[in-house]
Amino acid sequence: MLPKHIAIIMDGNGRWAQARGYPRFYGHLRGSNRVKEIVREARKIGIPALTLYAFSTENWKRPEDELSVLWRTLQKYIRRQIGDMKKNGIRLHVIGEMERLPADVQTELKNAMNELKNENKMILTFALSYGSRAEILNAVKLISKECMAGTISPDQITDKEFEKHLWTSPLGENSDVDLMIRTSGEKRLSNYLLWQASYAEFDFPEIFWPDYSVEEFHKSLENFSNRKRRFGAV
Ligand code: IPE
Ligand code: IPE
Ligand code: MG
Repeated sequence: MLPKHIAIIMDGNGRWAQARGYPRFYGHLRGSNRVKEIVREARKIGIPALTLYAFSTENWKRPEDELSVLWRTLQKYIRRQIGDMKKNGIRLHVIGEMERLPADVQTELKNAMNELKNENKMILTFALSYGSRAEILNAVKLISKECMAGTISPDQITDKEFEKHLWTSPLGENSDVDLMIRTSGEKRLSNYLLWQASYAEFDFPEIFWPDYSVEEFHKSLENFSNRKRRFGAV
């Protein structure tokens, strides 16, 4: 079985570069090539939702020059890939505090999302200035306001109703993560998709993100297909 929603924590760019005597930013450049390959492959094999952790709310603590490389790399990525995405029916979505990103990056992303808004073969989501607790708190605030306005009563707040208020709501029935992958050997979620990953299967390849090839991606898929997902049943 193929997962419907794959979430990836693309970790280890800095260590990959440092291990080779390059500055950290070079790892981000090489990492963005992998993004391109993995997106193409996911689309090719028919994965309906792919969500990539590119920048966490905690990543704002990084030095200014590294941040600027990250934003420029993202901008270049969008500019270069938009044609390919259009051709392949890929819709673009962003989760996170988009308003905190540099203005020109926001503009680039908004234009691309608009250009791709009718594509429906796969939804590619970038998590940017993303934090799962912030996402959940935001949903709680929205629902509280609806309760106070009387449009919904507290008893009507089901899982499905709650999910409509999460940033992943455009993913609809695919918003639950089936397969969560984190490269680099770290085994933690770092505030990523805490609600959506409730029943995810995990894969932790012991390689840095710039080494995560299409072949490695297939190994992750193979691991997933061998799991027995019981969802609490026997
Ligand atoms: C992941 O690689 C990319 C981002 C967080 C933007 P890192 O930059 O975290 O690389 P390491 O973990 O320091 O090696
Ligand atoms: C998590 O990686 C976020 C991304 C990959 C974008 P980090 O490298 O920032 O996470 P920690 O600090 O190791 O938890
Ligand atoms: Mg890291």
